[in-house]
Amino acid sequence: MLKQDSPILQEEIRSPRVAVERLLLTDFRSYERAVIEPGGHNAVFIGPNGAGKTNLLEAVSFLAPGRGLRQCKLSQVTKLGAGGSWAVASRLDTPDGQMEIGTGLAPRSSAASFTGGAEETLDRRIVRIDGETVSSPAVLGDFVQLIWLTPQMDRLFLEAASGRRRFLDRIVAGFHPAHTREVNAFEKVMRDRNRLLSEGSADASWLSALEARMAEHGVAIAAARLQALDHLAGAIEVTTSSFPRAHLSLDGELESGLRDRPAVEMEDSYAETLAGMRAQDSRAGRTLSGPHRTDLLVRHVDKDMPAELCSTGEQKALLIGITLASARLTALHFGAAPILLLDEVAAHLDEVRRASLFDELWSIGSQVWMTGTDRSLFDSLGDRAVVYRVDEGRIEKDE
Ligand SMILES: Nc1ncnc2c1ncn2[C@@H]1O[C@H](COP(=O)(O)OP(=O)(O)OP(=O)(O)O)[C@@H](O)[C@H]1O
Ligand SMILES: [Mg+2]
Repeated sequence: MLKQDSPILQEEIRSPRVAVERLLLTDFRSYERAVIEPGGHNAVFIGPNGAGKTNLLEAVSFLAPGRGLRQCKLSQVTKLGAGGSWAVASRLDTPDGQMEIGTGLAPRSSAASFTGGAEETLDRRIVRIDGETVSSPAVLGDFVQLIWLTPQMDRLFLEAASGRRRFLDRIVAGFHPAHTREVNAFEKVMRDRNRLLSEGSADASWLSALEARMAEHGVAIAAARLQALDHLAGAIEVTTSSFPRAHLSLDGELESGLRDRPAVEMEDSYAETLAGMRAQDSRAGRTLSGPHRTDLLVRHVDKDMPAELCSTGEQKALLIGITLASARLTALHFGAAPILLLDEVAAHLDEVRRASLFDELWSIGSQVWMTGTDRSLFDSLGDRAVVYRVDEGRIEKDE
């Protein structure tokens, strides 16, 4: 137990945050059943490769909308040999009091009744907030903000734009929770338009109606991205950090247009573009223009160099810097510090950088979940975390 005068308790009083008090996993990856009770404190998981550390962070990542930090099919999450469903149940401490969030892949029959029986929606997850089933996982964004960094993201600046766009949209959602709904709505209408175009006999007025809705959602997405990025730039500008400063910009037609034209004008212009590209899009089998093609461009300010040309370590440091800045931004705009999931982050940093990372995390006030193979990586955290040993699926507190 922590003493009443512990710095952890003092910190909790100072910064509003959303934090996990208790987590229960059922048939989730390597765990048939697991319970973790960090009680709102930072949690560190130490264990050998394959022990089940990342699986625990992934379980927390399902408290946000989307497909979790591994971005995989929901059915792959179910413990091998355990039938169809998995579940994560949590008790959270929030500025508005305690809340319970449960989520998981439902057994076939309840998924079908939940989604009106549609065959294609069976791989959907169910979300319950305080016992009530909600209409869509996107609702989670109104209550919990999560930011994660995983070793797979080390190649974020080198790989396809889709990864950077997802990273960007998660940052934007921390600033503007309705963003996830806008992105989902845009993608749904775009799929409808693509389907109509592929059928060949599409009614022009029907297409125009879909394109008008795409334009509305598309411009809202672009505007939210621009606004969040401007605020992020401000947050990076005013904070001293031991991680390099990043300059972020957007390479997208709607985002560039919005810099000097009003939103209504951009909506008309994008709807016109879509109407003019029907034949081309039909041949391509997809929509060639829109916010789903935007790329996030990152530069290392002090080196004046694009991120993709920086060294592996520099790229990692840039990512950490952006993550810290967006956590600060989320804390400010969402009104509560986000939960941070940092998988294998400490291992890549020297001792001084590690200590500064822990201090910066502490000053943001977020609950942080971290993993590592070696206990000594977390020495400079002191008593600012509950440390667990994980081995072959067993989780024990390191006293
Ligand atoms: N659906 C599943 N059912 C059962 N086991 C699974 C499933 N998916 C993954 N696993 C297993 O879970 C184990 C733990 O994986 P995890 O990624 O959490 O390990 P880790 O402790 O993070 O290891 P590392 O240090 O290598 O990153 C692995 O052995 C993996 O094969
Ligand atoms: Mg791992």
